[in-house]
Amino acid sequence: MTAAERRAYAVAAVPGDGIGVDVTVEARTVLDAAAERHGFTLRWTEFDYSCERYARTGAMMPDDGVATLAAFDAILLGAVGFPGVPDHVSLWGLLIPLRRAFSQYVNLRPVRLLPGTTSVLAGRQAHELEMVIVRENSEGEYSTLGGRHNEGQPGEFALQEAVFTRTGVERVIRYAFELARTRSKRVCSATKSNGIIHTMPFWDEIFASVAAEYPDVEAESCHIDALAARMVQAPDRLDVVVASNLFGDILSDLAAAVTGGLGMAPSGNINPERTHPSMFEAVHGSAPDIAGQGIANPVAQVLTGAMLLDHLGEAEAATAVRAAVEKVLTEGRALTPDLGGSASTSEVGSALAEAL
Ligand code: NAD
Ligand code: IPM
Ligand code: MN
Repeated sequence: MTAAERRAYAVAAVPGDGIGVDVTVEARTVLDAAAERHGFTLRWTEFDYSCERYARTGAMMPDDGVATLAAFDAILLGAVGFPGVPDHVSLWGLLIPLRRAFSQYVNLRPVRLLPGTTSVLAGRQAHELEMVIVRENSEGEYSTLGGRHNEGQPGEFALQEAVFTRTGVERVIRYAFELARTRSKRVCSATKSNGIIHTMPFWDEIFASVAAEYPDVEAESCHIDALAARMVQAPDRLDVVVASNLFGDILSDLAAAVTGGLGMAPSGNINPERTHPSMFEAVHGSAPDIAGQGIANPVAQVLTGAMLLDHLGEAEAATAVRAAVEKVLTEGRALTPDLGGSASTSEVGSALAEAL
């Protein structure tokens, strides 16, 4: 095949902060190996948008950051946030504005217990631990509406408004039902309508109306507190879980914890209409506690890369990446400390690239 015949995709890499840098470099190596074998090229452009950049320039990304990234077919993001820059400044200066600017209103977070690993839940088999969190990713509890008042006075208070729009709620719930049709045909919606008096009954009402359009899919509403308990005690009763921004955020770390841990959980910020690039980043953050030690597990970011390949339409390469992960985990030779091994981040990356 000549170079001109190869399919090519423009991918932006934003390694970001902490272990985001360590795991993204490994994911790129693995994805390039997959691309090489499957007849396409990933044309990478790397951006230094990060807390380091903030320290240097006073901004997480330049003014034209959104416009620049808009030109890419997809974005691979490491993690954002590091001590020294307040989290609300770094995250609202990079990750959250990108999700919104590119209308990535679905945060898709599939988890499953992979071969060669064991769950912290005793006795659970792989088929009992497979689910996907469909998290609303553009509104909800994450909002800039509100403020701090009477600062420094006895009556000081902070007010934070949640925004749930009919369009925003309906589209993410519909996405969950469509996804369920390709899986177990079960959707569980996270609610808290017993305590949250306005937004959650609204969410439930929309969930019920969309559910009525999918009589072939089993629909259930579950209060978030009970749902959290079920994820630990009866995870086999869950498959597609649809949740608001904050609930979905919390449930995704829990779902990761009951499968292989945060080092294993991939995620995609999806713009389903494909009018803007989608952005792929593991569920985990920048893990300052282990940053720079070369021990972060790159598997989550590699599986995130497989989601990116699927999104580009390179399903065979994505499947090959997942198979390589399963092979390396099953062999048990190259495992990072979180999985009980002693391999470094780059040793795992190399083992995965070789397995391809
Ligand atoms: P975290 O996910 O970074 O870390 C939580 C714990 O899990 C830590 O003990 C960490 O060492 C461990 N861990 C995470 N990923 C791992 C991996 N790949 N291999 C091995 N161990 C891993 O969450 P945190 O500590 O709450 O947040 C740290 C920073 O990251 C904060 O600034 C936070 O705002 C930010 N954050 C960013 C994103 C993102 O950019 N997508 C996501 C979550 C948190
Ligand atoms: C995630 C992260 C982010 C979120 C933070 C860092 C703002 O926890 O992607 O899960 O809550 O969306
Ligand atoms: Mn999170």
